[in-house]
Amino acid sequence: MTAAEPAANSQAAQAPQTSQSKLAALVSLAKRRGFIFQASEIYGGMNGVYDYGPLGAQFKKNLKDSWWRDMVESPPLGIDGKPVQIVGLDSAILQLRKVWDVVGHTANFNDQMVDCRESKNRYRADHIQCFFIKNKDGSPAAELIAVMDGDGVLDDAKKRFQKLRNKFPAWGELSLDNSRDLLTARKEGFAETIIGPEASAPGTLTEPRAFNLMFQTYVGAIQSDDSKTFLRPETCQGIFTNFKNVLDTSRVKVPFGIAQIGKAFRNEVTPRNYTFRTREFEQMELEFFCNPEESLKWFDFWVAQRYEWWQGYGLKKSSLFQHVIPAEERAFYSQGTVDLEYQFPFTAPGFGELEGVAHRGDFDLSRHQEGSKTKLNYFDAETSQNFIPHVIEPSAGADRGCLALLCDAYQYDESRPSPEWLKLDPRLAPVKLGIFPLVNKDGVPEVAEKIYNDLRKSYICQYDAKQSIGKRYARMDECGTPLCVTVDHDSLNDQKVTVRDRNTAQQERVAIDQLGTYVAGKLR
Ligand code: GAP
Repeated sequence: MTAAEPAANSQAAQAPQTSQSKLAALVSLAKRRGFIFQASEIYGGMNGVYDYGPLGAQFKKNLKDSWWRDMVESPPLGIDGKPVQIVGLDSAILQLRKVWDVVGHTANFNDQMVDCRESKNRYRADHIQCFFIKNKDGSPAAELIAVMDGDGVLDDAKKRFQKLRNKFPAWGELSLDNSRDLLTARKEGFAETIIGPEASAPGTLTEPRAFNLMFQTYVGAIQSDDSKTFLRPETCQGIFTNFKNVLDTSRVKVPFGIAQIGKAFRNEVTPRNYTFRTREFEQMELEFFCNPEESLKWFDFWVAQRYEWWQGYGLKKSSLFQHVIPAEERAFYSQGTVDLEYQFPFTAPGFGELEGVAHRGDFDLSRHQEGSKTKLNYFDAETSQNFIPHVIEPSAGADRGCLALLCDAYQYDESRPSPEWLKLDPRLAPVKLGIFPLVNKDGVPEVAEKIYNDLRKSYICQYDAKQSIGKRYARMDECGTPLCVTVDHDSLNDQKVTVRDRNTAQQERVAIDQLGTYVAGKLR
């Protein structure tokens, strides 16, 4: 956890008023209830790396399982109205170094970094925003103030201005409406007049330099350049290198997709915003291979599909944004990229990338064909066309997905047993049912235990017999459990139980022998 992030040990005493306090409340809830912990916490915590606790691991697994089910096991109907063909893959994290060389990652998987000669800090150049200043006489001041971009950037700029203005008596006011990122400001000739984010004088930031984000490692006993390789920075290259294997061994025909979920590693220089930008994360990637002539139609199809998919699991349409990346910012081989962005608390009122849908053309297969001297073309027997397929890639982050879903699910309502509660989609909720005996005597626990033992064969259930029913509801609401079942004295006579719905807090009496059907209907 970075210094800007909150301590995670207490319940929010009032409804979070700002997006920053909403994030603080969520971080606290996620820690308190065992969703997310900082890695190596007992040793002080590792920056940019997170562990998922019991509830978090189940929640993340549910998200990944949902993606796998909707992509591989039951893919959507394609542009011709027939189910698209998608097969799964689980490729290794370690691959020969040549895999990364041929697609340019060894040379180019990098960020532009600047160092500050005064503060000795290192920054990602595209994370620095520069603000102009007007002198008291209305002329533009020579100096620009640099601050880290993100939530609160304007407040930070104002604070920096106030702190520095005694040193620069000619300064009149800060211009807040025409700031620009560091690289642009440098290009415009301001390199020597920018005051770095933690510096007191202009011109202390170095030239931007490329910093490779891949973690390197050595395979085998000897550590030499020959044995060096990298932990994969994206899962997709394992898909491209297996394209021929899959084509030769599965009964797939173009168009078809290969889907994979797995860990990726990037030595991010400025990991930040909780689990948004971390050094180890999971991706859910689909590489969809199609005829180049149909690729733009498939591109539009996958953008629409993925946009709908996130909404289907609970993200509000108003919190999502399709960011069409302009041609000049796309990779040279790409005919289109749309980032599906979510309004995270730390980006609000702006948005941050949740998933990228990219048209990768034939770039990767062509590079691997050239590098491996293995034919990776496709012969279409129906049309007699021979081509290297084009690839449409919807690439989502499982961790960013979890974070967006948690942010969206977080609710605060004073009138409830726990004011803080999570309105998670039942399919993603880590616990589906809380099962409570009202009292721990008179045969009530025996009936509750029987129900628990029956239902836990199909659903993750938690049996809770401690404290008042209100406190038990509160515990379940906090972790997003959709239904609670309470067995009371009446249950012994009428063979019915009380089922409480998390969202409405409405209670219903349901016959025990109908409970399975009732629950199945509610948890779909
Ligand atoms: N194969 C394409 C690719 O890797 P990307 O935009 O770099 O594209 C895809 O990554 C997704 O992976 C992002 O939309 C994001 O959800 C997730 N992701 C990327 N870097 C991440 C990081 N440092 N921490 C957490 N998630 C990350």
